Amino acid sequence: MNSVDQLRETVRRDEVFNFLKPRIQARDLDLSHGNILYLEDVSVSFDGFKAINNLNLYIEAGELRCIIGPNGAGKTTMMDIITGKTRPDTGTAYFGQRIDLLRLSEPEIAQAGIGRKFQKPTVFEYHSVFENLELAMDGDKRVWPTLFARLSSEQADHIDEVMHTIGLHEHAGKLAGSLSHGQKQWLEIGMLLMQNPHLLLVDEPVAGMTHQEMDRTAELLTSLAGERSVVVVEHDMDFVRSIAQKVTVLHQGSVLAEGSMDEVQNDPRVVEVYLGE
Ligand SMILES: Nc1ncnc2c1ncn2[C@@H]1O[C@H](COP(=O)(O)OP(=O)(O)OP(=O)(O)O)[C@@H](O)[C@H]1O
Ligand SMILES: [Mg+2]
Repeated sequence: MNSVDQLRETVRRDEVFNFLKPRIQARDLDLSHGNILYLEDVSVSFDGFKAINNLNLYIEAGELRCIIGPNGAGKTTMMDIITGKTRPDTGTAYFGQRIDLLRLSEPEIAQAGIGRKFQKPTVFEYHSVFENLELAMDGDKRVWPTLFARLSSEQADHIDEVMHTIGLHEHAGKLAGSLSHGQKQWLEIGMLLMQNPHLLLVDEPVAGMTHQEMDRTAELLTSLAGERSVVVVEHDMDFVRSIAQKVTVLHQGSVLAEGSMDEVQNDPRVVEVYLGE
């Protein structure tokens, strides 16, 4: 057994009994009212400190939303709540009209169609670009009968399509460990895309990137919206300006301002928060 097969088997071993429980699927997602995410009156405290304070956030289906705000504003904690890593003390969180995120575990939320990219890329360094994408493939398609079978042409097409989307099709056989920092970030986004998420959360995607990589990332994230919704948290204002449609400013765990980049930048409350840092 080669190392890819070993890894694949390890990944699948936990999934053996998954078919026994009813699973929330992306097809349960109801977007009939136009929004894909509803956070309402959400609060969470850590040792008495309100990291998220009566937060209300609505994300439309297909939109690209940028979230900005000073350090400690609660941006990452907000993503932790959406993905089930942190449970709020109060409030509600819905994915579409019907899926109550607060009743789902982290893996169930991923299964339902929310993908999250952490700041540090976590690719399999000793596997190729292609193998990384193969390993990230939607668990549902990897059922027992196909365990050691070859990829279906549909699956191979999906990998190929994602490699084109992330601009790594010419590096299919290259070890992930030998990619540049930016390319690793794109590969990780590609690994999320293999699971066909409806909502993609991306925390500080351009930290440490060259200007060229930043431009490419702006194009990539812009192209991903529409078919799915993308929420980007980022400190780099030039980058945010280059992709911004609607921007939400978080401050002390609440929404301070929301609107176009120009609107929020000229909002005196926002100016005060950023200058007051
Ligand atoms: N698990 C935790 N335990 C205790 N405090 C926490 C925890 N997670 C976050 N915090 C605190 O909550 C506040 C919000 O943190 P968070 O990481 O969400 O901010 P952020 O907006 O992502 O900041 P940055 O821009 O620096 O990434 C901070 O004061 C942080 O120290
Ligand atoms: Mg953060």
